[in-house]
Amino acid sequence: MDLYEYQARELFARHGVPVLDGGVASTPDEARKVADQLGGRVVVKAQVKTGGRGKAGGVKLADDAADAQARATDILGMDIKGHTVHKVMLAVTADIAEEYYFSFLLDRANRTFLAMSSVQGGVEIEQVAEESPDQVAKIAIDANVGVDRAKADEIVAATGFPAEVADQVAELVIKLWAAFVAEDATLVEVNPLARTTDGRVLALDAKVTLDENAEFRHPEQAELADSSAVDPLEQRAKEKHLNYVKLDGEVGIIGNGAGLVMSTLDVVAYAGEDLPGSPKPANFLDIGGGASAEVMANGLEIILSDPAVRSVFVNVFGGITACDAVANGIVQALQVLADRGEDVSKPLVVRLDGNNAEEGRRILTEAKHPLVQQVDTMDGAARRAAELAAQGA
Ligand SMILES: Nc1ncnc2c1ncn2[C@@H]1O[C@H](COP(=O)(O)OP(=O)(O)O)[C@@H](O)[C@H]1O
Ligand SMILES: [Mg+2]
Repeated sequence: MDLYEYQARELFARHGVPVLDGGVASTPDEARKVADQLGGRVVVKAQVKTGGRGKAGGVKLADDAADAQARATDILGMDIKGHTVHKVMLAVTADIAEEYYFSFLLDRANRTFLAMSSVQGGVEIEQVAEESPDQVAKIAIDANVGVDRAKADEIVAATGFPAEVADQVAELVIKLWAAFVAEDATLVEVNPLARTTDGRVLALDAKVTLDENAEFRHPEQAELADSSAVDPLEQRAKEKHLNYVKLDGEVGIIGNGAGLVMSTLDVVAYAGEDLPGSPKPANFLDIGGGASAEVMANGLEIILSDPAVRSVFVNVFGGITACDAVANGIVQALQVLADRGEDVSKPLVVRLDGNNAEEGRRILTEAKHPLVQQVDTMDGAARRAAELAAQGA
């Protein structure tokens, strides 16, 4: 889960990472009040979960509270890379002498954690990383050791931080690591990490990603979730413990096993490419190994309630849960949905293969459900589902 900057800033503050005073506002009027409390001269910053806000005009300096209100009027409602601005953060301004970059992240490829830092931070960091990668220090962090003073000093030296800020940066880095561990983050990023003209080192921007797999350890983090930004179908799927991701196509997908579902998405996208309207997958849904009728019903319910869906492709490879059990699950699921009063009116293409496939197919054939069609190959079934979606266009 990505946090908004104002949430990340509060998280930093709780862990003693130096930040400037600030507050958040949803209306220009609120922004004026917050600016007033902060002393007038403030920076007004769009709160959206994407980078490059400064370049997009979403970060503006204001001289006084009235000016802050005017800047908030400009920024609220702005669209930044497809994200609408509903809130602004206001913070005391800093007189910046230098902008550095610092982050800790989970380095999946190398199965470790990584510190990345540069003395050339600020809004051009992507360009610096691309054009002069030697300007970005990358230091692996051993999870069993963490970041102690020696490690922090190593990071500071490798980055080339100026001597006059070395101490402050080292202390900040130790606190930031403590925050990273305590909050179960997969990313904490500070860009810019600024040196002010009066010699302080401050986090002027804050980006944090929390590890959702560690959610159970952090009931207090639940309030950070932004239900307005979560897709309602994904929200419902999550409540039913389904592994579902909403996509923007028209062919609903259900499969068992993440790998099979991923390749199903590819095959459907390919099959739809040359058809009218180029139908694409509407979602990812992995119902896992022991696909019970109830799980199948819950999955079908979510997919059928997606107004974008015009056809559904159920792609199952029978393993420990054999195809006959899955076929019975599909038949029962359709009955469960009918009993619940759900609108079941979209065509289902089912492909069963693997353990007991013959028996599974027989069960579906005999059930004679008017919406269910069977195709024996994955490619053929994908094509059929895409065609049905194209016809429904
Ligand atoms: N409190 C502040 N005082 C003065 N300048 C700031 C302050 N916060 C941000 N800035 C300036 O605005 C730039 C962009 O802001 P930032 O929060 O990094 O947004 P983004 O990374 O999305 O562009 C920073 O690089 C910095 O130069
Ligand atoms: Mg930034």
